Amino acid sequence: MRVPLEPARGTRDILPPLSEYYQQITTKFSEVAELYGYRLAIIPTIEHFEIYEAKSGPGISKSMYVFQDKAGRTICLRPEFTASLVRAYLKHLTAWPKPVKLYYYGQVFRYEEPQLGRYREFYQVGAEYIGEPRAFADIELFQLIRDFYRTVGLSGYAFRVNDISIARGLLSRWGVPEEVQDDVLHMVDKGETGRALEVVRGYAGPEASLLESLLEVRAESPSELRAEVERLGLPQELLSTGVSRLLEIFEALLSLGLRAYVDFRLVRGLAYYTGTIFEVSVPGFNLSIGGGGRYDTLSRILGGAEVPAVGFSLGVERTLIALESEKVLESLAKPRPRTMLISLVRDLAFVDRVATRMRERGVVVDVRYSQKRRLSDLVGQASRAGYDYVAIVGEAELGEGKVTVKCLKTGTQRTVDADALGDPGALC
Ligand code: HAM
Repeated sequence: MRVPLEPARGTRDILPPLSEYYQQITTKFSEVAELYGYRLAIIPTIEHFEIYEAKSGPGISKSMYVFQDKAGRTICLRPEFTASLVRAYLKHLTAWPKPVKLYYYGQVFRYEEPQLGRYREFYQVGAEYIGEPRAFADIELFQLIRDFYRTVGLSGYAFRVNDISIARGLLSRWGVPEEVQDDVLHMVDKGETGRALEVVRGYAGPEASLLESLLEVRAESPSELRAEVERLGLPQELLSTGVSRLLEIFEALLSLGLRAYVDFRLVRGLAYYTGTIFEVSVPGFNLSIGGGGRYDTLSRILGGAEVPAVGFSLGVERTLIALESEKVLESLAKPRPRTMLISLVRDLAFVDRVATRMRERGVVVDVRYSQKRRLSDLVGQASRAGYDYVAIVGEAELGEGKVTVKCLKTGTQRTVDADALGDPGALC
């Protein structure tokens, strides 16, 4: 039988060294999230379709992998984590003291047209802050992202920020039903603003031009934002809610030294957002590397009691692309010293003792059993394969309880006591 060796379209075999970069991203994100008090949630890869059907938004719901299982249930591969996490929260964690702070990592699936940085199976890391309505929860998430990027070495990023309650507030005032609002915002997200405004005109008449002007606002500073919203003459109720919250967050981000700007055209693809929304971008890459926002009503939409919540997810693939373009990708995975331990004797216990000593000190030890006449071949192979050292155990070494270590970079060679062996770097 001949099988295709190419992985399925839009998916990748993630092999070394790429796999090691993925692991570093996950590990470093986990460390930072835990330092902020988030705890790990591991949720199923398959999910009830209804969870995502409700509020994933027209874009994502069309790109979901959906199928019937053998019992006829409609199942989907998770297209993101947030709605599943809210389901898990409603099922298990409502009695926990609030806030409940969770983080996660893993793969998600979207049937999209593959391109650089866009896959059908991709990885996210993310965090959700459940049970806190005030803006300091939103702000903490930006701080967490900042610290994560600092840990992996990414610096040239910026936050594009908005508060979706402002545009939704206008649409609601004009009597645009919620499902129509979702469609209108989806059109704006896809750049079809003209079409979106046409729909809105059907409800608001000429007043729809206020939305048109709003979508054109982009502010680099809080004072600019204040001036712009004043010029627009937004209704007071939106000024005292969405706009004032947006200003508070914008000011906080700048005071934390983060690069941020407000862009009212940002609406995001997911339809569950109710307040702050944001995306992370890097220069020269037109896809956002992360995004998130506040979704205070999602738990009610999923049938539970309403609980305010805010969160974000970062795309692992796109983070790696950003790191590569900043030329810091390779420093992400700190390589351990690698040794090929060549044993010319069949003394398993002694070889194990030597290898264990070295591994205990964080040295990679790849054991090969060989014959003396093949020794130089193996040393050559170790050198070509990028090992740092070879350690040799022959009859003479075994008799004296010693090991010969050769540094492949300098050619220096020493015979040392097996029990004293640590990182051979110190010996070369
Ligand atoms: P999202 O914007 O749909 O938000 O995805 C977050 C990140 O996943 C994107 O910024 C991007 O880096 C990455 N991403 C999205 N689609 C693809 C793709 N096809 N290939 C590669 N990477 C991709 C969410 O998923 C929300 N759950 C964020 C959130 C959490 N909101 C509140 N809490």
